[in-house]
Amino acid sequence: MLMMDTINSVLNWVVPPASLVMLALSWPTLTFISICERIYHSFFVEDIGNKVVVITGASSGIGEQIAYEYAKKRANLVLVARRDQRLRGISENARRLGAPNVLFMAADVVKEEDCRRFINDTITFFGRVDHLVNTTSLGHTFYFEEANDASVFPMLMDINFWGNIYPTYVALPFLKQSHGQIVVNATVENWLPLPRMSLYSAAKAALVNFYETLRLELNGEVGITIATHGWIGTEMTRGKFMLEEGAEMQWKEERELQASGGPVEEFAKLIVSAAVRGSAIVKFPSWYNVFLLYKMFAPDVLTWTFRLLSSAQGMRTTPFVGTRRPLLESSSSPRRRHTVVPNTSVPRIQLVE
Ligand SMILES: NC(=O)c1ccc[n+]([C@@H]2O[C@H](COP(=O)([O-])OP(=O)(O)OC[C@H]3O[C@@H](n4cnc5c(N)ncnc54)[C@H](OP(=O)(O)O)[C@@H]3O)[C@@H](O)[C@H]2O)c1
Repeated sequence: MLMMDTINSVLNWVVPPASLVMLALSWPTLTFISICERIYHSFFVEDIGNKVVVITGASSGIGEQIAYEYAKKRANLVLVARRDQRLRGISENARRLGAPNVLFMAADVVKEEDCRRFINDTITFFGRVDHLVNTTSLGHTFYFEEANDASVFPMLMDINFWGNIYPTYVALPFLKQSHGQIVVNATVENWLPLPRMSLYSAAKAALVNFYETLRLELNGEVGITIATHGWIGTEMTRGKFMLEEGAEMQWKEERELQASGGPVEEFAKLIVSAAVRGSAIVKFPSWYNVFLLYKMFAPDVLTWTFRLLSSAQGMRTTPFVGTRRPLLESSSSPRRRHTVVPNTSVPRIQLVE
């Protein structure tokens, strides 16, 4: 024990400065290698035309726009979410944009048997899976201590963590056959925690760690693209959140809105272009990177900033982070209707020709 303590004390003094010196010396070589890789990837782009892309969470937001980007590249699509009436319209749009075949299936990614069924149906119909894009998610806007019902905690972890892992687990043997690609939608909150998002951030951090480990285990047989992004205009940012009571709620009008334009489309383009190039990471917007420096070298600055923001906004009446809209309005407000998302237990499969 004493021996270990002595070794660790010596290493604490020696390793950090030695590593920094080595990093500084190897920086030019590393930069050169990274530029060569970029040049290589800009020339050798996978032709995804007629290949098969499964997208979970395709009924809105980033998932929907990613479907359109793959459609423009003439990929066959399998669109998965619980609201199949929305998937129908999105499938038709994707067909018009160039996807040769589009299947859509109502399924709950939190259930392993649903995931098994939509991947098996994909194999039955197309015989292969080339890309698996995971975009299912549910955010929340409550302080941890405000939650009324602890049973919502596993639900948030289920959707944000296991909802990615089950489809990956089931699709992996087929992705290995096609030397395919997995796309993961994490978020900048996986390393830059924001108040009111504790469980969401925790699930996303777990997701990033899981896929980085899986990348090592797969050793290049299947590529993994991890996308970390900041605030983007989607259902999630337009009011779809989990409230303290645990119901999945949002403004009805906004839930039915088509998320399009600006950052969502731009980001979907970035993700698909990174996936076909086999890139490991996509970041949007990249200026968030500067906070990494603070996190590493001056974490107190971030803590003080968030404290300052929280006290300026008032702890219990803060608006949705980033939207400036009140969380709870009076029920007489005509804009506000709650929608509890139906729980689909039987997956349905449909083809748009
Ligand atoms: N928007 C942002 O600003 C932002 C920022 C950082 C990271 N992200 C990440 O980007 C990804 C996409 O976010 P988004 O903004 O596009 O969210 P979104 O518009 O709310 O879309 C979430 C999708 O997940 C589906 N879904 C939720 N639970 C499901 C379940 N149990 N089974 C099957 N499908 C389910 C929803 O469809 P149904 O309701 O029809 O099932 C919907 O299609 C997420 O991973 C999110 O964490 C978003």
